[in-house]
Amino acid sequence: MTQQKEIQIVDVAPRDGFQAVKTQIPTATKIQVSMALAAANFKRLEVGAFVSPKAIPQMADTINVHCALSGLDKIRLSTLVPNAIGAKNAIDAHIFDLVFVLSASESHNQSNVKRSVSDSFSELEKIVDMGRRIDGFQLRFNIATVFDCPFEGRIPEQVVLDIIGQAVDLDFPIEFGLCDTTGRAFPDHVKSFCAKVIDQYRSNINIGWAFHGHDTYGLGIANALYAYDAGVRVFDAAAAGLGGCPFAPGASGNTASEDLVFTFENMGVATGIDLDKLLDVAALIEALPDVDTGGHVRALPRKRICS
Ligand code: COA
Ligand code: ZN
Repeated sequence: MTQQKEIQIVDVAPRDGFQAVKTQIPTATKIQVSMALAAANFKRLEVGAFVSPKAIPQMADTINVHCALSGLDKIRLSTLVPNAIGAKNAIDAHIFDLVFVLSASESHNQSNVKRSVSDSFSELEKIVDMGRRIDGFQLRFNIATVFDCPFEGRIPEQVVLDIIGQAVDLDFPIEFGLCDTTGRAFPDHVKSFCAKVIDQYRSNINIGWAFHGHDTYGLGIANALYAYDAGVRVFDAAAAGLGGCPFAPGASGNTASEDLVFTFENMGVATGIDLDKLLDVAALIEALPDVDTGGHVRALPRKRICS
């Protein structure tokens, strides 16, 4: 069988990236960044979160960002929701592309969304019930701390497999996001776990897989490559390597989108992204006040990275 030699990158800078920035970013700037990412040819962006403004004040203007981007064509704009209230608010605003998040580890789930994993799973069930009634509804289910938790360390695989199994039993189309929230997953673990779940659900056409990596320990690209080797074809990343969960101590930015594009394109794996334009977006992000950026290729002369 010939392997599909292309991947899709979801740029999550407007959500995972901006949520980590303490200084409020003007709504107009958020819109400008998303527009520029769309111009760089991203087909999917995660542009905000319907979360409590007390938990993440930076995301309070998500609805305005979505409204301003609604004219963009041929691009999926998703939003993160931590519970059924967030999903209802998003749906009321005609946003039907949702990313629900819960953590595999109890302590990170408590820290992040203030409830047990099983209570969070009940929220997922409510969201799926809402989704069943909506044409064109699309669900990403991000499982945070799949590999490692800032409080509990390495997560037993069976814990994650049970959560995935329960979600598959809902019999609803789901793209699972396997999230290395802390950036402390190691490539061999990423590869073996991704291969295991892909193989287990290979015949289920309702199920898709994405890898969401952070670059805290410099392993973001290696982890993405090992996930690719295992069969994952959708990757979350953030322009300028921005990002990090405010409720995961020690975690830093997402794997930089430009690093992923540079690596995969040079390996003959198409991303569809215009690297030159993406580097312009990364520069725009880097110039914002109070941002903690990451990544590698951005620091090199442009002519050495763009052919
Ligand atoms: N969006 C906006 N407001 C929300 C909300 C949502 N998704 N969910 C709950 N609320 C409101 C409730 O209506 C309630 O309002 P009130 O005080 O005016 O009555 C208030 O928040 C408290 O509700 P409760 O269910 O007790 O929430 P909580 O205080 O236990 O917080 C979360 C739970 C999930 C809402 C909050 O922890 C959160 O938003 N976390 C997001 C974390 C995140 O984004 N992490 C990074 C991404 S992984
Ligand atoms: Zn993340």
